[in-house]
Amino acid sequence: MRIPTYLAIALLEASAVFAVPSWSSSEHLPLLSPRVAAGRASKRPNHPIAPKHPGRHFPASPPRTKTCYVKSNGNGKDDSAYVLKAIKDCNNGGHVVFERGKKYTVGTALDLTFLKHIDLDIQGTIQFSNDTDYWQKYAFKQVFQNATTFFQLGGTDVNVYGGGTLDGNGQVWYDLYAKDIYILRPILFGTIGLHGGKIEDINMRYSPQWYNLVANSTDVVFSNITISGASTNSNPAKNTDGWDTYRSSNIVIQNSHIDNGDDCVSFKPNSTDIVVQNLVCNGSHGISVGSLGQYIGEVDIVKNIYVYNISMSNASDGARIKVWPGISSALSGDLQGGGGSGAVSNITYDTMSIANVDYAIEITQCYGQKNLTLCNQFPSNLTISDVTIKKFTGTTSKKYDPLVGYLVCSSPKTCSNIKIEDVDVRSPTGKNGYQCGSIPGIETQVNCTKTG
Ligand SMILES: *[C@@H]1O[C@H](CO)[C@@H](O)[C@H](O)[C@H]1NC(C)=O
Ligand SMILES: *[C@@H]1O[C@H](CO)[C@@H](O)[C@H](O)[C@H]1NC(C)=O
Ligand SMILES: *[C@@H]1O[C@H](CO)[C@@H](O)[C@H](O)[C@H]1NC(C)=O
Ligand SMILES: *[C@@H]1O[C@H](CO)[C@@H](O)[C@H](O)[C@H]1NC(C)=O
Ligand SMILES: *[C@@H]1O[C@H](CO)[C@@H](O)[C@H](O)[C@H]1NC(C)=O
Ligand SMILES: *[C@@H]1O[C@H](CO)[C@@H](O)[C@H](O)[C@H]1NC(C)=O
Ligand SMILES: *[C@@H]1O[C@H](CO)[C@@H](O)[C@H](O)[C@H]1NC(C)=O
Ligand SMILES: *[C@@H]1O[C@H](CO)[C@@H](O)[C@H](O)[C@H]1NC(C)=O
Ligand SMILES: *[C@@H]1O[C@H](CO)[C@@H](O)[C@H](O)[C@H]1NC(C)=O
Ligand SMILES: *[C@@H]1O[C@H](CO)[C@@H](O)[C@H](O)[C@H]1NC(C)=O
Ligand SMILES: *[C@@H]1O[C@H](CO)[C@@H](O)[C@H](O)[C@H]1NC(C)=O
Ligand SMILES: *[C@@H]1O[C@H](CO)[C@@H](O)[C@H](O)[C@H]1NC(C)=O
Repeated sequence: MRIPTYLAIALLEASAVFAVPSWSSSEHLPLLSPRVAAGRASKRPNHPIAPKHPGRHFPASPPRTKTCYVKSNGNGKDDSAYVLKAIKDCNNGGHVVFERGKKYTVGTALDLTFLKHIDLDIQGTIQFSNDTDYWQKYAFKQVFQNATTFFQLGGTDVNVYGGGTLDGNGQVWYDLYAKDIYILRPILFGTIGLHGGKIEDINMRYSPQWYNLVANSTDVVFSNITISGASTNSNPAKNTDGWDTYRSSNIVIQNSHIDNGDDCVSFKPNSTDIVVQNLVCNGSHGISVGSLGQYIGEVDIVKNIYVYNISMSNASDGARIKVWPGISSALSGDLQGGGGSGAVSNITYDTMSIANVDYAIEITQCYGQKNLTLCNQFPSNLTISDVTIKKFTGTTSKKYDPLVGYLVCSSPKTCSNIKIEDVDVRSPTGKNGYQCGSIPGIETQVNCTKTG
């Protein structure tokens, strides 16, 4: 369908909300003035879930039938009211455009858990304000690990794309955290209670801590996301995980580039049926299951995870499973736990190339407990079973040379069927030793050169 150019312009000038299919105006692009052209809606991307698939169905997302443009003050003043208005106007079947070249400032915590059949087309930049007092008070408290988020996006059938950027204004937070580790730093992107959605072609920058929390969600795909943002001074950007999944299932994270300083992806309690594939991770703590078993009385389940085709460089770990022991332990002042129960099962890490990574593989059931005697005395209440780690290549860093991996459970009873196959990873001096402990049959699979 074509609509006459004069009508398209008249509609654009008359109202921010109009009812033409979102893809129709781009055909007239050369005839439109630059200001109007900048406002055109992008076509929804269609990145396939490939090559692996979690096996479950993802619901279809019908086309949108109206478009709403988000206004901006353009001077650093809070644009949240404009954002909320456009989203409300276009909820239930519309397409919201954050225009290319424009900067939107968000200084108000936005509860977007009411979304339904809507596309958020972020072409410009959304920057969260640097008012650390406000955000510490009003960012959404997700309870788990004291996590808070700038906004929470949830509902059903939501697509986010457009090639634009979300900027967490992290530096003020890195500086504040250096003075006080107990401050609550918001997570950049909160996917909370989303059922059916795709987040694609988005750049995420300078998150105060984790970049993504995916909680209480099902059937969500992240594709073609770039993550980066380092501190510009000596105060490090800490805990900048790429993704953390929690109480979520049927999730895909793929085709993305992550430059960060903590887990590239982390499967937290009750993460099931997840595929992570085709990622380039640099500077991270690896693709991690856990930490789990942190809280006494809680049951943590992580199962049916497939991690495929990852490039991992300048990292502390490649594949990692971290479980707290059965006794209360501390990793740092703001990270302690132990004694929780549950199960990690059916986890596959298939194809990873590593470069300058401290441990290619690390499995521990003594997380946060340096005293291994004590850890073995109080074995973890969380079992690890049916884990396959295969087709790893590359060279570790010199940190643990001659070791390239660490495979330590807290008791032979708590870990079973752990397979390491076709792993060709060497230390810089050409060795391939592993520290092994309490994993039945592990010594027939790798060179255990140290036990503990
Ligand atoms: C916070 O942002 C405001 C407006 O953008 C700016 O004037 C101010 O210098 C910033 N404060 C800090 C601490 O970066
Ligand atoms: C998830 O849902 C549970 C149960 O309804 C709720 O208690 C919790 O606050 C929700 N959010 C998160 C992040 O767990
Ligand atoms: C939240 O942080 C406080 C320290 O500020 C800590 O004592 C508490 O255990 C944390 N809670 C959770 C759920 O992690
Ligand atoms: C990924 O997203 C960027 C915008 O952030 C876009 O330019 C690029 O074309 C996308 N890649 C693919 C394969 O679609
Ligand atoms: C593996 O991931 C890389 C990106 O890191 C991609 O270029 C390549 O095509 C992927 N391989 C397969 C088999 O999907
Ligand atoms: C990769 O990570 C290292 C170490 O954190 C960092 O120095 C380097 O700049 C990163 N590379 C890129 C391309 O960002
Ligand atoms: C995780 O799932 C288990 C088993 O269904 C359940 O007992 C537990 O309460 C769940 N934990 C959370 C944090 O939702
Ligand atoms: C194990 O997980 C894979 C996905 O990674 C799934 O296809 C398979 O069905 C699961 N196996 C069992 C026994 O659930
Ligand atoms: C690893 O870090 C070094 C700097 O420490 C950097 O030169 C290199 O590009 C990084 N590797 C990748 C793949 O980004
Ligand atoms: C480790 O724990 C054991 C058992 O409780 C204890 O005897 C030993 O003193 C501890 N070692 C250190 C270094 O604290
Ligand atoms: C942990 O397991 C031990 C047995 O190893 C059991 O005595 C204890 O009650 C369990 N604790 C929890 C919190 O489940
Ligand atoms: C263990 O080391 C020996 C000697 O370096 C080597 O021949 C053998 O292939 C290694 N085994 C494995 C499973 O890597």
